[in-house]
Amino acid sequence: MEREEKERYILDMEISDREKQERYEAMKKIRDEVINLKESPLYISRVKPVIGEGSHFSKIIFIGEAPGKNEAETGRPFCGAAGKVLDELLESAGIKRDEIYITNIVKDRPPNNRDPLPEEIKLYAPFLDRQVEIIRPEVIATLGRYSMVYIMERYGLSEMVEPISKARGKIYETSMPYGIVKIVPLYHPAVAVYNRTMIKILKEDFKVLRELI
Ligand code: URA
Repeated sequence: MEREEKERYILDMEISDREKQERYEAMKKIRDEVINLKESPLYISRVKPVIGEGSHFSKIIFIGEAPGKNEAETGRPFCGAAGKVLDELLESAGIKRDEIYITNIVKDRPPNNRDPLPEEIKLYAPFLDRQVEIIRPEVIATLGRYSMVYIMERYGLSEMVEPISKARGKIYETSMPYGIVKIVPLYHPAVAVYNRTMIKILKEDFKVLRELI
């Protein structure tokens, strides 16, 4: 390697290491803030908060609703029955789980797996917004109606919100400070836990992602 080229290479390495460190620190700050979120109504029943998992440099971020029992026990998103379906869907689309980032809108488990309440979404969503800002994904895949509605409203697509049965697998575009981002609403993987025949539809929808990343 020529000296100049070598220096450039070293500089690039340094920049990317610095970037890695910055993203790591920003995510750690979010983790610490969620851990200390004692004003949350979900704090009293918390086992572990579930912040998110995966690559801070992922081109795609998957957003679910809220942790379930297994997730709250382990602190990892989508590690229970719905997570198994998600793994199957990712595999069918040729997407590696460790190359993506997975999180939820609400970071603590609602009791008895009830749906998240509007005030809970309001309280936790700013953490999700920051995770999106840190990762700067090209694609946001929403899992289920709650994250679809939140993300579409958050990024200026309120008027295009429709029932998830119509929106699933469609590609919506929004403009972020760093560029165009594609939003792809998907059914929540849990639908295939309750109705196995849905797996075919989910796999079809997941194929769309493969073409985008
Ligand atoms: N359902 C979700 O929405 N998120 C999880 O992490 C697990 C189940």
